[in-house]
Amino acid sequence: MDSIDGKVAIITGSSRGIGRATAIRLARSGAKVVINSRHSMEELNYTLEEIRKTGAECISVMADVSSRDGCRLIVDRALAEFGSLDILVNNVGLGLYKPFMDIDDAMIDKQLNSTLKSAIICSQEAARRMASGCIINVASLAGALPIRGLSIYGAAKAGLILITRSLALELAPNIRVNGVAPTVVKTRMGESLLKVTGTNENDWAKRNSLYGSLIDPADVAEAIFFLITVTSMNGQTMVIDGGQSVLGGFTA
Ligand SMILES: NC(=O)c1ccc[n+]([C@@H]2O[C@H](COP(=O)([O-])OP(=O)(O)OC[C@H]3O[C@@H](n4cnc5c(N)ncnc54)[C@H](OP(=O)(O)O)[C@@H]3O)[C@@H](O)[C@H]2O)c1
Repeated sequence: MDSIDGKVAIITGSSRGIGRATAIRLARSGAKVVINSRHSMEELNYTLEEIRKTGAECISVMADVSSRDGCRLIVDRALAEFGSLDILVNNVGLGLYKPFMDIDDAMIDKQLNSTLKSAIICSQEAARRMASGCIINVASLAGALPIRGLSIYGAAKAGLILITRSLALELAPNIRVNGVAPTVVKTRMGESLLKVTGTNENDWAKRNSLYGSLIDPADVAEAIFFLITVTSMNGQTMVIDGGQSVLGGFTA
């Protein structure tokens, strides 16, 4: 087990949802936290205030991590402010919902860049500057089980699960790389997925969960904390699905 007290952590896409819960969880254990979003300044400021209430040091960086400049800017700001970097959580992802045959090139690029390329380039920029530490990729159960309307998102998350294993191999022994793969989480993204598929939390959970509700972002944050601190974990993606994969898959 490793303590994260005093360690420096970047969490991409942390103005709300899983990213915010993770940033607060790491701050509560003493990490110095770098939070990020593209344009939700108000939500980012709220997260910053919540983190500062824990007594942890925190800075926020507005940047689009689907570009290399954006990833580099966050890493540069982390190093300028705190002098080192220990933890990167690649949390950014977009769930663009559309039947496969209606998807155009622009949407394919947007989906892959935000969900897969962002984690690849942020990992490169961070790993170059980390003496040691770990990277966590936020994948999805959709990277292991198909969901109608989310084919490109699922392909990006499947890529993220494999690159987690590849980077564990290439970046060892100094940097460990793990991931989490939640099913639908109670966040803006999770709720908009239910809306677009014409269902609601209770009906969805009755059909898809042994647990009875959507996953709480704090549970995902706790799994991320576990993967960061348990030093024998490497190359794994932890499924957090309330038993859904035992039931067999996604039903709309
Ligand atoms: N919610 C679910 O059901 C679910 C299930 C499985 C996996 N996941 C994965 O979990 C991760 C977080 O999801 P969430 O539900 O917490 O999403 P969310 O509530 O929509 O939050 C997404 C966060 O990412 C930021 N963001 C989006 N694109 C960005 C970019 N290019 N650069 C920088 N920041 C960006 C958003 O801020 P701005 O709007 O300001 O850009 C926001 O802070 C994603 O990778 C998602 O695929 C979610």
